[in-house]
Amino acid sequence: MTNDQNQGKVLTLVVLISGSGSNLQSIIDAIADRTIKARITAVISNHSDAYGLERASKAGIETIVEPHQQYSDRKQYDQVLARHVDRYSPDLIILAGFMRILSPWFVTRYSGKILNIHPSLLPKYKGTNTHQRVIDAGETEHGASVHLVTEELDGGPIVIQARVPVERDDDAESLRRRVLEQEHIIYPQAIKLFAQGKVPTE
Ligand code: GAR
Repeated sequence: MTNDQNQGKVLTLVVLISGSGSNLQSIIDAIADRTIKARITAVISNHSDAYGLERASKAGIETIVEPHQQYSDRKQYDQVLARHVDRYSPDLIILAGFMRILSPWFVTRYSGKILNIHPSLLPKYKGTNTHQRVIDAGETEHGASVHLVTEELDGGPIVIQARVPVERDDDAESLRRRVLEQEHIIYPQAIKLFAQGKVPTE
């Protein structure tokens, strides 16, 4: 099944980040050069020192910082997050290096409307530290995936993937850099597919 109700319109996006925000930048750039027809209405970070916040400000995008430390309960934090998100009623929520697991409550609330990018060829290497784990396992191929977010961690339907060969002299850092280059290509493409109604909803 696909969702085609967004075809032709300017998609509104809220982007969630925790760090550098280079994927956020690739989306800002893809909007600026009209590769995708979208508008980022807010960038939300759980870290006040995330460099992605500066990228957003430079692009004239509203930023919100909502640190998670003061919330002991995951759902409680996610309810605060949802209050921010709902002020913008986005068509799509983009997780771009947002390093928190979302509660089932949040995921259900925005079902079919959250995309995540993960640095591996899912379903392989869910979780963290993917590049080192790929090298340790002697894999010859690695990559990145954009997927719809469901309650299963890194487990929703895959929208698009990019493959990267693992070179003999790769370490985790060199591999991370090459995978990241591919992430910057596929995330805007995934948003375009969503806009075209070509994202599987189940
Ligand atoms: C990216 O490599 C992204 O795939 C990864 O964090 C990095 C964020 O970089 N996400 C995850 O590992 C989520 N499980 P960025 O802040 O420069 O976009």
